[in-house]
Amino acid sequence: MEITVGNIGNVVGTLVLPFNKGDESIDENMLGGVNRSLCHQIEHLFSNGDLTGKSGERLTLHSAEGKATLLGMGKGSDRTVDSCRNAGAKLVAGLKKRHGSNLTIRASGWSMEELAAFAEGMILRDYKYDQYKSKDEDDDDDVELRATIQCDEKMVADLTASVAESAKVATGVFRARDLANAPPNDLYPMAYARLATEWASDKDSVKVSIITYEEALDLGMGGLVGVGKGSERKPCMVIFEMNSKVEGPAPVIVGKGITFDTGGISIKPSASMDEMKFDMHGSATVFGLMQALEATGYEGRVTGISCMAENMPDAAAQRPGDVITTYSGKTVEVLNTDAEGRLVLSDGLWKAAEFNPSYIVDLATLTGSIVIALGHEATGMWTNDDDLRDNLVNAGNDCGELIWPMPLVPAFEKDMKGSKIADLRNIGGTRWGGSNTAAAYLKQFVQTVGEGDDAKQIPWAHLDIAGTAWGAKTNVLVANGGTGIHVRTLHRLITR
Ligand code: BES
Ligand code: MN
Ligand code: ZN
Repeated sequence: MEITVGNIGNVVGTLVLPFNKGDESIDENMLGGVNRSLCHQIEHLFSNGDLTGKSGERLTLHSAEGKATLLGMGKGSDRTVDSCRNAGAKLVAGLKKRHGSNLTIRASGWSMEELAAFAEGMILRDYKYDQYKSKDEDDDDDVELRATIQCDEKMVADLTASVAESAKVATGVFRARDLANAPPNDLYPMAYARLATEWASDKDSVKVSIITYEEALDLGMGGLVGVGKGSERKPCMVIFEMNSKVEGPAPVIVGKGITFDTGGISIKPSASMDEMKFDMHGSATVFGLMQALEATGYEGRVTGISCMAENMPDAAAQRPGDVITTYSGKTVEVLNTDAEGRLVLSDGLWKAAEFNPSYIVDLATLTGSIVIALGHEATGMWTNDDDLRDNLVNAGNDCGELIWPMPLVPAFEKDMKGSKIADLRNIGGTRWGGSNTAAAYLKQFVQTVGEGDDAKQIPWAHLDIAGTAWGAKTNVLVANGGTGIHVRTLHRLITR
């Protein structure tokens, strides 16, 4: 999609006019250059009271010289950046080929931020994953959508810049979606590593390095090795370093990258097991974030660490009852091989401390429990730092990617330290509060810096994205599949 911004002028293609509940007409300024027949039709519609203006209402009018689509936005006083973003996405979702591929959008009384959000919603929804579909020669489904947002002269420059930024960040969101949607026979740990290396090869600001399976063995990364050794496609850690020469503490983002989670020897039931290809969305977000930061020319230092493994049952797989020694030196009794995300993250989080972090954020499709707690509407967050909590909540709210604080209390940590034979166990003593015990386990791998009274854990936040990583009916920003969740949130957190 190509979006341009300009003054109110000629209508190109279909004119899109959002309006509010209770509006008795369309603002005259919005009808400049619109042919008489369409103007009359619009006038009649409003005077006959045929439109309710309720959110989601949509009507397309046709005349010999052009078309207009009226978009109900609900009550004007209820309009928010979120509702505008969703309206832009819904507009694209509902486009039929017969509407042509050109749109002119005019919205009366909207702020620059609201128009920018509408454009962002359009951009984000204009995505499909069709790499594995045979192409039909005369399929014209792929015509590029062109939209012009026509607004007040005063907003043109800011809106142009904002739309350009959204388009760049969206390339990162789409990267994350592509990775998440990729079938697990083609996207395995070293395939991810190869894609990352290829992507970085012509980028001056990014360096990608790989810790291979053999190196992970040598380094004592028992979590990554334990999970990945049962697969023919061996595990690896992929490290993205952006602007590595910049001095001082900087963010480190760690992602769970299980390219397929069968559960291992503690095997999962068959129903919907295919969805476990999304179990690498944490690592997809890490890659997508790097791409978004690079595309927008970010000049600060950032590190991304993706912990890649395939969790398979096999003669070489780890067993329930095994004790592994993680990169930290801490030992873990593996009581359930399906609680594998936390094992690979043990090593990734410990590794993160080697990059002088200002803070660490990890993302993981970690537990089914968080889907029970928050559904598909919010990501669960556990953190040891109040500022990081506030900054993440705010960044998420700004992007319409809700992040909800969850409790990190000592009782959960005590539970995870309850192994009779090792330092930690990888599941809690009961099934209750499963996403909290998982977070409490991860906290054991966040390093402490400083001496004596100054000793303090590195600021860290864990995001459980199991419910938000793939499309739900309520998320209009994506039709289905991987959502690219939190590429935008983290881009905002880091760049603002
Ligand atoms: N990848 C799953 C979590 C998951 C479940 C993500 C459903 C998305 C949808 C994770 O590795 C897992 O299997 N977790 C277990 C942990 C349990 C064994 C303690 C779970 O949540 O059931
Ligand atoms: Mn699992
Ligand atoms: Zn998993």
